[in-house]
Amino acid sequence: MSAAGVVKAITPPNIRARKGSTPLVCLTAYTTPVARLVDGHCDIVLVGDSVGMVLHGLPSTLSVTLDMMIMHAKAVRRGMERALLVVDMPFGSYEESLEQAFRNSARLMAETGCAAVKLEGGATIAETIRFLTARGIPVMAHVGLTPQAVNVFGGYRVQGRGEDADRIWRDALAVSEAGAFSVVLEKVPEPLARRITEEIPIPTIGIGASAACDGQILVVDDMLGLFGDFRPKFVKRYVELGEAASAAIEAYACDVKERRFPAAEHVFGDELKAINGGEAT
Ligand code: KIV
Repeated sequence: MSAAGVVKAITPPNIRARKGSTPLVCLTAYTTPVARLVDGHCDIVLVGDSVGMVLHGLPSTLSVTLDMMIMHAKAVRRGMERALLVVDMPFGSYEESLEQAFRNSARLMAETGCAAVKLEGGATIAETIRFLTARGIPVMAHVGLTPQAVNVFGGYRVQGRGEDADRIWRDALAVSEAGAFSVVLEKVPEPLARRITEEIPIPTIGIGASAACDGQILVVDDMLGLFGDFRPKFVKRYVELGEAASAAIEAYACDVKERRFPAAEHVFGDELKAINGGEAT
């Protein structure tokens, strides 16, 4: 909180400075009400392109558009005061050229008020990260399993096992040297996550990458038990909201069919005079 009583939002340099310190808490959000729930508990709130699969029922993140990201990021921004808001650049919005990456990242920041963008990819995207950060766009990188490359990987497999570990390590080093303020490590074995975390100077944010990382991120619908299409091994479900919602909807349907809802307390009389808490009774 500042002297004026305004909450001071966390910045990319604040996140960078947390390397090796207390673990960074990160979650995704796609809507205003969920942003309000997570903001006070998180250092970073990510509007991930996972929104395509989680909220729009798409089979992968590949058809998520920049306009979709902007719409969800604006909604999340309205629910946030404290955490750093990071927004994913969707597939096809940054890979073509440095100019394309700058134009679309700048649009994302200008229209949503986010303070940073996230790009998937390692060594191949390092030049883009350098270009963007030099022009005022903080970048969170994402290496290991990068879901936008699902067709190249042939599925959502663990990356960096055995001799492949060096490839992921070089990716993490490259994005760090290019100026990323943090890097997501997705679905890599624990020894590799530990090695990267020990050897690069920026915070590593793990998802399926063990507690060796400098922080953790989960898709909020996964940890709340709201997304049931599949259940990755690395997700811990803290509550089964999907089951609770399903039971509530079934109870509502029964009440309507049995005329138990609406009950007397939900029904308006035709008197105009009574005002209770601003609402006519
Ligand atoms: O899209 C997303 O939600 C992500 C996180 C899982 C890291 O990239």
